[in-house]
Amino acid sequence: MHSETAPTSRPLAIVSGGSRGLGLETARGLAAAGFDLALIAKDVQRLDGARQSLLSEFVATQSGLTITTHAVDLEDQIATRNMADEIATSLAAPKVLVLAHGVMSEKMSKTLRTTDAEWNRVLNINLNSVFILVNSIAPAMADARDGRVVIYSACLGRMSGPGSAGGLAPYRISKAAVNSLVRNLAHETGLGARGFYVDAICPNHTRTDMGGPDAPRSVEEGAETAIWLATADISERGTGQVTGLLWEDRKIVPF
Ligand SMILES: NC(=O)c1ccc[n+]([C@@H]2O[C@H](COP(=O)([O-])OP(=O)(O)OC[C@H]3O[C@@H](n4cnc5c(N)ncnc54)[C@H](OP(=O)(O)O)[C@@H]3O)[C@@H](O)[C@H]2O)c1
Repeated sequence: MHSETAPTSRPLAIVSGGSRGLGLETARGLAAAGFDLALIAKDVQRLDGARQSLLSEFVATQSGLTITTHAVDLEDQIATRNMADEIATSLAAPKVLVLAHGVMSEKMSKTLRTTDAEWNRVLNINLNSVFILVNSIAPAMADARDGRVVIYSACLGRMSGPGSAGGLAPYRISKAAVNSLVRNLAHETGLGARGFYVDAICPNHTRTDMGGPDAPRSVEEGAETAIWLATADISERGTGQVTGLLWEDRKIVPF
């Protein structure tokens, strides 16, 4: 863990994938909203670069901003569990947990062609680590009756529309399973009635290392709904069921 600043009373947001792309942009939005941050990713240098750039960006407007970094290979379940347990015991219970890490599967990863190694790589990073991080960190949020979990899914994981319409099998199936985890956990925790909210988002095709330089959306556009779910008054979600859902541009879309 890397930290140089004394802890403050600002609420904590934990963001995986916080070193770049949509995770870094979400972390930026949460810092602007007054959160301290704990950033998780694999590459130590990139994590430190993200931390330094956020601290410089907010030096004048967010006095006391504290950012810790936590480097781990989320493909490794034991290392992930150890890191998550360390976070759960060493940091305050977070108010917000955003899971924005992920990998795309290889181009030709169709079900009949993909390998065990590729299947396990993608499922470990995109799904199993999501379970471990939620299972380690979110109980304190549920106990506090004050927590929001937002997980970056993908429209490619939807069971409706073009979602699971063939190709990129490990990626699509990992995201479909993440959607299922979100819905199931929301029902297990009272669908928001106990102050705990858990939701998935489709950021849509965004210009990041994963999305590529020609994607139609900026990171600001791609991260906007995640930041909104993490910070806005719950009444802004409308009436009826307000959590355990898949969101796209602040709207509920079918799983
Ligand atoms: N971009 C899109 O068009 C798009 C569309 C739909 C859904 N999504 C979803 O949105 C999320 C963010 O995507 P992105 O476009 O921001 O991706 P990205 O730019 O490729 O960034 C990926 C992030 O995940 C982290 N990560 C990857 N493998 C890891 C591992 N083994 N251990 C620890 N951290 C790991 C990376 O950390 P390091 O820097 O340490 O490698 C990085 O922070 C993903 O879940 C993705 O599936 C993206």
